[in-house]
Amino acid sequence: MSAAEEQVGPGILITFEGGEGAGKTTHITFLAACLRAMGHEVLCLREPGGTSIGEQLREIVLNPGNAAMADEAELLIYEAARAQIVKETIVPALARGAVVLLDRFYDSTIAYQVYGRGLSESFVRQANAFACQGVHPCRTILLTSEASVEEGLFRATHHGDADRLEQAGTDFHARVNNGFMRIAAENPERVRVVSSAGPKDETARLVFFELKDIFGWGEDSNVWASDFYEPILRRNTDEKATISLEG
Ligand code: TMP
Repeated sequence: MSAAEEQVGPGILITFEGGEGAGKTTHITFLAACLRAMGHEVLCLREPGGTSIGEQLREIVLNPGNAAMADEAELLIYEAARAQIVKETIVPALARGAVVLLDRFYDSTIAYQVYGRGLSESFVRQANAFACQGVHPCRTILLTSEASVEEGLFRATHHGDADRLEQAGTDFHARVNNGFMRIAAENPERVRVVSSAGPKDETARLVFFELKDIFGWGEDSNVWASDFYEPILRRNTDEKATISLEG
């Protein structure tokens, strides 16, 4: 059974993954604006977080004051936040046919807790399966900035203080980035690597290309037009944008 067939309900779950500073938020916001303009109900969520309980767990797991946190406790907090968002928000959204754009999901746990922290892969996979309750993304966009680990960390942290994970050191983050590339190599059908090194509209077009089979964007769709991206990039915070779009 393919990941798409395991999907809960008629909705579509797309996850975005990547190391620190890869630009996930920008492209999730942009894709959401486009999909809403096409008439989809779109939910943008993040892990850990996305629910009241999940946001409280996020606060604990990312708090730099919790430097003494055991790697095992860290894993279980991420899984607890995941179990909550899956049951409370993702399953109902997929059941009513929404598109869910999720900033990080179980691949992050493999990259950070297995490759980064060195926890048992088989145990983390079981914990992921328990927390996910049968929910799988039908596609995963792995954004890679092609910048150095140091540059990625700088981009992620220069607006404020670094969180506990961002403070984990460059060797840790290099292992995480390597982990993501291995996950992509092992799951070529689901995980699509997209470079965010170029201009934003170019990256957006690459993201659209990797989703075209899911949304049925054929060669004649206006999503490929050279003037498609600019107005939406300009208006991507305006959810009521009425742009002439076709499927
Ligand atoms: P972010 O959403 O701002 O990227 O912050 C989340 C941080 O938590 C980021 O450093 C990645 C990390 N993380 C894990 O270590 N394991 C996980 O399972 C998830 C979802 C995130």
